[in-house]
Amino acid sequence: MNQIQLHPATGKIIGISPEFNKADTDNAISVAAAAFPSFRQTTARQRARWLHKWYDLMMENQEDLARIITAENGKPLTDSKGEVAYAASFFEWFSEEAPRASGDTILSFVPGNRVFTLKEPVGVCGLITPWNFPAAMVTRKVAAALAAGCTVVAKSPGETPFTALALAELAQRAGIPKGVVNVVSAMQNTVEVGQALTESETVRKVSFTGSTGVGRLLMKQSAATLKKLSFELGGNAPFIVFDDADLESAVNGAIASKFRSSGQTCVCANRLFVQKGIYEKFAAAFAEKVRGFHMGNGFEEGVTHGPLIHDRAVNKVDAHVRDAEKKGGKVLVGGQKMSKLGDNFFEPTVITGMRMNMQLASEETFGPVAGLFPFETEKDVVDMANAAEVGLAGYFYSKDLQRVYRVAEALEVGMIGVNTGLISDPAAPFGGVKQSGFGREGSKYGISEYQITKMVTLGGMSQPLQGS
Ligand code: SIN
Repeated sequence: MNQIQLHPATGKIIGISPEFNKADTDNAISVAAAAFPSFRQTTARQRARWLHKWYDLMMENQEDLARIITAENGKPLTDSKGEVAYAASFFEWFSEEAPRASGDTILSFVPGNRVFTLKEPVGVCGLITPWNFPAAMVTRKVAAALAAGCTVVAKSPGETPFTALALAELAQRAGIPKGVVNVVSAMQNTVEVGQALTESETVRKVSFTGSTGVGRLLMKQSAATLKKLSFELGGNAPFIVFDDADLESAVNGAIASKFRSSGQTCVCANRLFVQKGIYEKFAAAFAEKVRGFHMGNGFEEGVTHGPLIHDRAVNKVDAHVRDAEKKGGKVLVGGQKMSKLGDNFFEPTVITGMRMNMQLASEETFGPVAGLFPFETEKDVVDMANAAEVGLAGYFYSKDLQRVYRVAEALEVGMIGVNTGLISDPAAPFGGVKQSGFGREGSKYGISEYQITKMVTLGGMSQPLQGS
């Protein structure tokens, strides 16, 4: 069985992707398991060279990869090019981390003992990624896994399988041994494939990026084999603008954070809290910028924002807007489906007078709707920001250094942008707290998610010199 794939802007067929099932996935797991013993013995330096070559090939093919991303995800071509560079940066970063991921020597409590640790690859890894970044979410996981010496089976997103397949082709061209990188694609069979990865005794680690609901399910399925897990799940990011913020910079940061990928990232601002003294000015300047957006097919010149991924996403956005309106919110800009452009378009929307009893306050919209919540005091806004079961990213704008520390410490999230709306960086640890999941991707911490720390005690050694 194969899957017909559609362009989100036009609804036209862009290709047909293979639909893998449990048997195919088990087969891919066996291939990854067979490749593991020799791959784990390669030197870290050799793995670094392969990753660096993969990085070079991505950048040489940036234009083609970007066209694939725009075709299957819908984002504007310039954003897709940016995504390719972002995605490739994980190969560059982890090519540098691989040779430095060593263990430690430890001073023992016990006289005559010597203790040290070995950092070993965890084994075959199952990687499950979403459609909003068809390249970057794959590379962020694969790069760290390969740097550690693991082999992988990556389940590509149902809606965007082609980018992952193109990346696999580049892995082969980079000379990465056969069997190390395996991609399985599925749309209808997503549940079956996810189950095969999480229930397999051979797969020792699962890394997942997606919704909190699916994360719960995958965690349950992984329980029987007690897998190592890292989950990057849903967010509901607060974006706070204090009275003392630089207005222009706060407006630009909010635009960048809220409307990146038409609002379809887990770290997009979801609730914009603006202090009363600056609220009117902020709302006016912010709305003015949003009116300047140019919606359309991501392949067209000058388009700043593309469609949503499918009509279910449009309906959720519509429901949040209607709910806010019903409860007293005022739509300043947008607020409607854009059926003239296609089934998957929704107007970029700004709503004022938001309240905490509205749906948008407690649910991630994952679309181009900016709801502006007024607030009075720092304490009030921290309480409102933390009134969420998830905690992925948070942002705030202030020039007061004392406040910067206080609020950064008080927000219950895994990542904070202060005076910036963009925090994604291969060098920075990415991940959440509460029901946004656990584990960190990218950064110097990312590789340890794919490693085991094995301890070795050497007994019967001579007494160490004091302090050595
Ligand atoms: C995500 O939406 O899950 C990832 C966003 C990013 O890496 O910036």
